[in-house]
Parts: sequence; structure tokens; C-alpha cells
Amino acid sequence: MSGPEQDAAAGQGQDPAAARGQAAEGGETNDRSAAQATPLLEARGISRSYGSVAALTGVDLQLRPGEVVGLVGDNGAGKSTLLKILCGAVQPTGGELLVNGEPVTFRSPKDSRERGIEVVYQDLALATELSVAENIFLGRERRREGLLSRLRILDRARMAKEAAAALESLAIEIHSVRARCGLLSGGQRQAVAVARAVLWGSNVLLLDEPTASLAVMESEKIGQLVSEVARRQVGVVLVSHNMPQVHALCDRIVVLLRGRVVANLRRDETDVRDIVMWITGAALSRN
Ligand SMILES: Nc1ncnc2c1ncn2[C@@H]1O[C@H](COP(=O)(O)OP(=O)(O)O)[C@@H](O)[C@H]1O
Ligand SMILES: [Mg+2]
Repeated sequence: MSGPEQDAAAGQGQDPAAARGQAAEGGETNDRSAAQATPLLEARGISRSYGSVAALTGVDLQLRPGEVVGLVGDNGAGKSTLLKILCGAVQPTGGELLVNGEPVTFRSPKDSRERGIEVVYQDLALATELSVAENIFLGRERRREGLLSRLRILDRARMAKEAAAALESLAIEIHSVRARCGLLSGGQRQAVAVARAVLWGSNVLLLDEPTASLAVMESEKIGQLVSEVARRQVGVVLVSHNMPQVHALCDRIVVLLRGRVVANLRRDETDVRDIVMWITGAALSRN
């Protein structure tokens, strides 16, 4: 069983990945139009070892505009290591990265950010002492223009206005952009971190277990946000253990097992049970 019936049967009732496909121009599915585009980000034969431990071996991954790729695997499979390599926080010991078809070397996340790649980790999403607006503009503050421009005074009113508009456009509910981030719920913080990436025109968003510590409702909201971001043609890599959500949201699901890609599954040709069998390695002996 596959397709919308399956989602209805799984009690999802929603089909965000398919809805994005229908929204694409000319009625093409997202999968098909995405397959033609040059990948925004590509990993070719990426390896990484820590001493004698091979965290990743020969990993290939492609991410196209508007695509949501689920990256799944058991604990220690290499998901976080791969995400860290994709954003330059960790350097590979072998293989190469390409951005828009061009080979790149990232020495730090600053390098990848300059190429439009943003990463959101589970815990380190925001500076808790700063307000929502300050977090969104951190490192890229707006300054007063005109006669006062030489004084480099912060334009707080403008930042607050732009931050509020960005949150509203993504349907993120936060009572005030002046609220300290430390006072927000986990889900709100994740949402603000995603909004920041989107506002700054990132075209690739890497999410490492964004919903791991969230309540069900908040987790749903982050899911909706991921769909909205993909609709804007951002490519998303989502690391998650929430298999129903991964299946509902992702166009493709890449499964890591002990540092190797063992499956690259199209959403419409797999289901939660199948994905779990790949994760545990049971699918390998099945074939
Ligand atoms: N900084 C590190 N030093 C040594 N070993 C590491 C380091 N980071 C990850 N590893 C090892 O690499 C493997 C993959 O880890 P990780 O990428 O965190 O997996 P996942 O995110 O899928 O749980 C594990 O065996 C882990 O112990
Ligand atoms: Mg991890």
C-alpha cells in the first residue's frame, strides 16, 4: 500500500509532501521537477573516521530545491557526523562536497553559511539571554540610516518589525519579538531558529533532531514549518527518529547503517515499517 490512502490509514490525514508536489508548476510532482535540477548540495563518497572508528564510509547524498530529505538511522549510525560535515563543523577524511555543482571546502560553519547553508541543532538553537528579534538578527544587525548612519546605532524598531513579519509569514506564534528566548518553549525556539535561516535567504536547511525534545503539538508545528520552508524552494535535510513524521514530510528517506547509506527510498515507494527494517538492517537479509 502506498500514496495518500496509506497516510489516511496511518491516521496522518495530511499529506504535506504530496501537497507540495501538486503546488509545483505545471502539475509536475516535486519529485520529478526536483530530479531535473542541479543539486543545491551534494556529498560524494564522504568518509570520516575517528581513530579506528569509521563514522562514515563512502556516503553519497543529493539535495535539490524544495526537497525534504529524511536522514535516519540507529544511534551511532553517523547522522550527526554527516550533518556536521555538510555544514563545515567537521571535516571529512575523504570524498567531496558540491554546492550547485561546484566543489567546495568548508573549514567552518561560517564558510557554509556564506553559501546559504544553515544548520539547526537540537539544543544550541538560540542565545537564551537575547530577545527573539536579537536572535534573528544576531551578527547581521540593522543600523540606523541617514544622518545617523555614521554612529552605527542599532535600528531596533526596524529589526522588531522585520522579525515580527518573518514570524508571521511562517505562521509562527510568539507573543512578542522582544521576549527573551530563554522564556520560550522548545518548539518556539526551534521555530525561531528556522525563521532566522529562512529570513537570511538560506537555500539549504539542516535540522538535527529538531523535534526530539518537543511535545506532540509542537512537533507537528515544526513539521508544518518544514513543509512551508520547502515550498519556498529551500532544500531541507531532516534528521529525526519520528518515523511517521519523517514519512509524512520527506520526499526521500536516506538510511544510514554503521556509517553507510543502505537505502535511498522515495516516499511513495516505502512506509514506516519498511524504513524501520532498513534502519535495523533486517531489510538487508530480506533481499
Ligand atoms: N567527536 C567524535 N569523536 C570520536 N568518535 C565520534 C565523534 N563523533 C562521532 N563519533 C562516533 O561516530 C559514530 C557516529 O556518530 P554520530 O554521527 O553522532 O551518530 P548519530 O548521530 O547517527 O547517532 C559513532 O560511533 C560515534 O561514537
Ligand atoms: Mg546524532
